[in-house]
Amino acid sequence: MKNSVDLCRSCNTILDSVIDFGKMPIANAFLQKKNFKDEYFFNLESTFCPSCKLFQLREQPNPKKLFHSNYAFFAETSKVMQKHFNNLSGELVGRFKLSKKELVIEIGNNDGGMVYYLNKKKYKCVGVDPSKNVSERAKSKGVLMINDFFNYKTSNKIKKDYGMAKYFLSANTLAHIPNINSVFEGVVNLLDKKGVFITEDPYLLDVFRKVSYDQIYDEHVFIFSINSMQRLCKKYNLEIIDVKKIPTAGGSMRYYIAHKGDYKINKNVSRYYKIEQKYQINQFSSMKRFKKNCEKSKNQLLDFLNKYSKNNLIVGYGSTSKSTTIFNYCNISVDQIKYLTDTTPTKINKFSPGSHIPIYDYKYFKNNLPDICILLAWNHATEIFNKERNLFSLNGKWMVHYPTA
Ligand code: SAM
Ligand code: TMP
Repeated sequence: MKNSVDLCRSCNTILDSVIDFGKMPIANAFLQKKNFKDEYFFNLESTFCPSCKLFQLREQPNPKKLFHSNYAFFAETSKVMQKHFNNLSGELVGRFKLSKKELVIEIGNNDGGMVYYLNKKKYKCVGVDPSKNVSERAKSKGVLMINDFFNYKTSNKIKKDYGMAKYFLSANTLAHIPNINSVFEGVVNLLDKKGVFITEDPYLLDVFRKVSYDQIYDEHVFIFSINSMQRLCKKYNLEIIDVKKIPTAGGSMRYYIAHKGDYKINKNVSRYYKIEQKYQINQFSSMKRFKKNCEKSKNQLLDFLNKYSKNNLIVGYGSTSKSTTIFNYCNISVDQIKYLTDTTPTKINKFSPGSHIPIYDYKYFKNNLPDICILLAWNHATEIFNKERNLFSLNGKWMVHYPTA
């Protein structure tokens, strides 16, 4: 079953169609050869709500098809992200003076998350994640886990078993949940007076400016802006009390949200809101411009690959969910990119969704160094370039697909 909508998932306004990226497999469904014939496809199309300004997918596969006992993404593969989560858990203790009596809930905490670091320091925490394999991993590290989808119904169960939450966290998860109204109802149901809901996700202004259309795939149902987040909050008598621009996940915005009137609103909110207005990201004309930029980026990448793939070994670094959109939108195959390398055990020796490019481990990469290396995990560029400095001295060339802003 697919969830295909013509009305906005939040406010029921008729959606405007923006970009059709075509037939797309599930971004994280890395597969074996024997499963090529049964591969699942849906239509990837970005749309925009003219009323509440939510940038969203028209069609999304059933979430149970995406988040299950074989979920491919393990957050612990990135040291930088782990440091980032540790820092945010430290902010709760430092800036927000978290006490050991207060409850912290994190949704989509995957194999650990912020609650892993808080739990180590003996704070009261619960993680909620529907993907069984990553939940089990978090449990093995001592985190109290609820292996389920978060929504209003789950929030009632959590309230009954654990009480109200002082802090409600989510990183790279809110944008993944199609039933956004049920999530907000759940947050309001659980968030104590003076409680703070902290959520961070890829930011629409970054996606537009970098033309990082690869942020658009089945899991990213929404790409938020301050404008759309503010409208969502208003519906639930919540408000954004602070924002922080962060570099993770390819350029994200962190929103600090509370019950209306509980906190003074930091000037950062209006400062960043004005930047959004300057770039007009919440207008339909920007969506049209973005569409043109995606087409341009696609043509540039194909010209590059067609020019160099005959006489050079071109490979991809990081078999990312994002690259599924690039490969399928641009029709890229093993003719142009010979293999992909990745450190995640569950991806190694499988093939990329739709494009069927083989994925090899890091050892193979080191023994078969390319002439040109396309950095598909570009959101981890600093970490990877630090590790791979020697590739430059071996005359290997790095390439990132998107035109920088
Ligand atoms: N927070 C981690 C990070 O930032 O690296 C993991 C993000 S991962 C991209 C998204 C996570 O959200 C997955 O572990 C997935 O299982 C989980 N998820 C998806 N739908 C959810 C829902 N309705 N409630 C809670 N977690 C959900
Ligand atoms: P993401 O873009 O969804 O965060 O996925 C990044 C992928 O890149 C993930 O499969 C792990 C992989 N990766 C490496 O192969 N080497 C690395 O050094 C890093 C940081 C990530």
